[in-house]
Order: sequence, then C-alpha cells, then structure tokens
Amino acid sequence: MSYIKFFDTTLRDGEQSPGVALNTQQKLEIAFALAKLGVDIIEAGFPITSEGDFECVDRIAREVRGPVIAALARTHKLDIERAAKAIEPAERGRIHIFTSASDVHLEYMLRKTRAEVLAISEEMVTYAKTFTDDVEFSAQDCMRADPEFVYQLVRTAIAAGATTVNIPDTTGYGTPQDYGALIRSIFVNVPEARGVSVSTHCHDDLGLATANTLAAVENGATQVEVAVNGIGERAGNTSLEEVAMALYTRRDHFGHDIGINTRELYRVSRLVSRYTGMLVQPNKAIVGENAFAHEAGIHQDGVIKNKSTYEIMNAELVGREAGVLVMGKHSGRNAFRQRLGELGYVDLSAEQLNELFKQFKELADLKQNVTTDDLRALVENEIVKVAETYKLDHLQFQSGMGGMTPQALVRLRTPAELLEATATGSGPVDAAYKALATLAPIPFELESYDLKAIGSGTDALGEVTIRATADGRTLYGRAISTDVVHSSVLAYVDVINKLAAGVGRAKVEAKAVTMALP
Ligand code: KIV
Ligand code: ZN
Repeated sequence: MSYIKFFDTTLRDGEQSPGVALNTQQKLEIAFALAKLGVDIIEAGFPITSEGDFECVDRIAREVRGPVIAALARTHKLDIERAAKAIEPAERGRIHIFTSASDVHLEYMLRKTRAEVLAISEEMVTYAKTFTDDVEFSAQDCMRADPEFVYQLVRTAIAAGATTVNIPDTTGYGTPQDYGALIRSIFVNVPEARGVSVSTHCHDDLGLATANTLAAVENGATQVEVAVNGIGERAGNTSLEEVAMALYTRRDHFGHDIGINTRELYRVSRLVSRYTGMLVQPNKAIVGENAFAHEAGIHQDGVIKNKSTYEIMNAELVGREAGVLVMGKHSGRNAFRQRLGELGYVDLSAEQLNELFKQFKELADLKQNVTTDDLRALVENEIVKVAETYKLDHLQFQSGMGGMTPQALVRLRTPAELLEATATGSGPVDAAYKALATLAPIPFELESYDLKAIGSGTDALGEVTIRATADGRTLYGRAISTDVVHSSVLAYVDVINKLAAGVGRAKVEAKAVTMALP
C-alpha cells in the first residue's frame, strides 16, 4: 500500500476565507492540534504578506514538532527569502513557491509570456533550493490551462529541484474525470514526475473538491492539499476530514495508507470553527451536527437493530459520541421507546407508552426537534397524576379595534380560596396570561405558545400547548376549547396545577388577592 501525504492549508488558504483572521496564539493552537491529528505538512502562512504572518510561521516552526512546516512564496526572491527565514527554526521546513499556468492568469495577472514564466520558475525553484531541500512548486489554475504548458512547468520545476509538484484547480473548474485525467497525463508526459510527490489542490466552487481530489489519488497523486472543515478562498478547499474518512473507510477501493488519527477529526473541526467563526453546516459530512444523527422512523429502527444498517463508519472513529436518535415527527415507536429507556424510563406500561407516543407525535408536529427536556417533561406529566388544585372559576375579556385596550379578568378557585386578577395586554390572551402570572404559585418562564386548530370550520376546536420552565424543569400545559382564549387560559392553569403538584417545585403558596369563599 502506498502512503498519501496530507498537506494541511487551514492556516494559509483556509485563513483566506472572507472574514477570517486568526491571531498568532490561535494559529499556534490549531497547528498543535493538526500535529496531533497526524497531518504530514502544515502550511503555516505566507510570510511576505505581513509581519504578523511571518511571526506566525516562525512561532509554529519553532514550537510544533512532527509535521513539515511549509511557508508560501511567489516566484520572487524576497518572498522566498522571507519564507526561508520563517521556516528556519523548523525541524523540517518546506518552501512552497507558486506561479500560474492558465493563459488568463498569465495575461491579466502576471503579464508575462509562457517562456518568461518557465524561466522565472526555473530560477526561483533553484534559488529556493539554496535554503532547503524540500521545495514545492505550484502552478495556479492548471485545470483551465493548456495541458502542454502544465507539463512544461512540471518538467522545468522538477529539473530545477522541486520535490513536490502541485497541480491546483484554483478555480474549482474541474470534474473528477478531467482532473483525474490531467494527473494521469502528467505521469505519461513527464515521466520524471514519478520521482517526486504529485499533489492535488482543489477548490470547491462546484462542490467537487473532494471528488476531484480522490480522482487525482486514483490517478497517481500522492499528496492531498486540504483544509479543516473545507474552509478557504470563496467556496473553500477540499475538506480534510472528508478525504481522510473516504481514504480510510474505502481503503478496500483506494488501497492507500494515511497518517491521520481519525479520532482527532471532530475536535480539530470544532477548534477551527470556534476560532475562525465559520460555522459548520449541520449536514456537513463527518463533522456536521447531523452527520451521525438518525431521524426517520425506518432509519432509527434499523440503527437500533444494527448500526451498520445506516452507518458506514462509527461516530467514535472520528471522535464523536455514538450516533444519536433525533426525536422528530418522523421517529417511530421503537426509537421512541428506546430513547425513553436511555433516559431511564423503563417501567412504563403499554398504555402509558401508547399515550406518550401519541403526545410525542402531536408535539413533533408543532416543533422541529423534540429535545430530551421535552421528552422528560412529557413522561413526567404523564406519570405524575396531577390534582386539579386550581380550577378556572371565571374568565372575562374584552378586545376590539379603535383604541380599545385588550383586558382580561381571571378568577381561580382552590379548595381554600378564590384568587382573582385583571390585566391589560397586547391581545386578550396576553392580557389573561399577565393576570394569571400574578396568581401562579411559583414564577415560571413561558417558553413557547402554540395554537392548533382541530378541524377546519370556524367552529374548530383550538388546541393550545404551552411550554414553561421553572427551577430548571420543563412542563407542558395543554387544553382544548372552541374559544381560543379559554383554551389558552386552561393550558396555563394546567401548568399552574403541575407546579402546585410538585412537578416544578415542592412547596406551593397561593398569593395575590384572596377573597372569602362565597
Ligand atoms: O488555489 C491555489 O492555486 C493556491 C496556490 C497558492 C497553491 O492556493
Ligand atoms: Zn488555493
């Protein structure tokens, strides 16, 4: 099995992501994490661009051990000298020189002929070799360049001493087939390329960076340039974790070894996301929030029976917690029972489970994800038989247009007394809830309020579900009535009763206006 080197450019190309600026300490920490992850080369920066960049490369070269430390340079003497100086303290340092290959770059950016670019490349690779043996040569935009010119550049760079030749698809233009074919054609047209590392560097403008990189590996590339979470210019670079896990999971297909310690992948991803401020999309392969989460009932059922039904790799293998069952509207009864079991509710009767599953489905219709807290609240509400200490005795409200302030009066009856309050609000429900808040035995936060019509006519029942938290615990109140203000108030009273019954807090004291019982 041959070995594929991982060249990480999170700190250089990755830092070129719009809006990203890492300080020296953050870069150093990421570099340590990359070394622990087992990357072979860390591209630490582009020293000529600023004093700060120089200092970062220098610090990483001084302090990080294990990977080769690379610094980027244009085909300019001064760039090369700064890069050489910055990597000097490294155990092993690399100068990475780049020019361009496509006519559009030569004409508008370099303003040079092909012959001039070849001559400068030869001269600068030779110059870089006077500082270090390890010189990488890149020609930007190879995928849109004349392949004959790419061969000439590769031939020239190798003859001048380059030990790695990189074939960037700078604009993310390639497809797996034509990028793979370009890499293969290099070995055919420049046989001396077999004696050096041929490297990939793909951008993700068409979402093909990982596919293109893997196609290049299939066609003989031995180094992959990647960035954690796929960050980088525009749509980003090839994502390190995707290539690592593809090569690892499908080693039957690719047949290569890698030095990546896959169990570090998630940790490094989180670190880079935190420091760069670039959030990882939830459905991102390997490191996204949902990458190992199962929601559909059929999937959950399969995973409960045997993980391999829907998981091609274990979450633990990339340093994450085992795959999770996400409770949502697609979840099935089996997953629901399993999740309740995981939460410690193992003694529920068949009837309780049936009733809870029904309530869970209703709730999942209202909410995208039913959280663990929600599930606990459902079960506790079901298993705690709540006495109706507080009963709605009277409700009166007024609302209308033309400057009328919505107002509500509510009266609650307890075995010992009558409690009454009035309030105004932005509407009758708001006014009633403000009044009720003064009567609640324990203050609580109203987290959500949902109103659902049961039926389609104007006489439809209005079902109100509210979620409240008190003392860190979550409670639900639910009620149905043809009058939505009435059902809203009943749902609130439901919560008050649960609080009084100790679902929220043990000791309950009635407050507000106390009236003699009639
Ligand atoms: O995208 C690119 O071509 C680059 C080079 C500097 C390697 O980042
Ligand atoms: Zn790039």
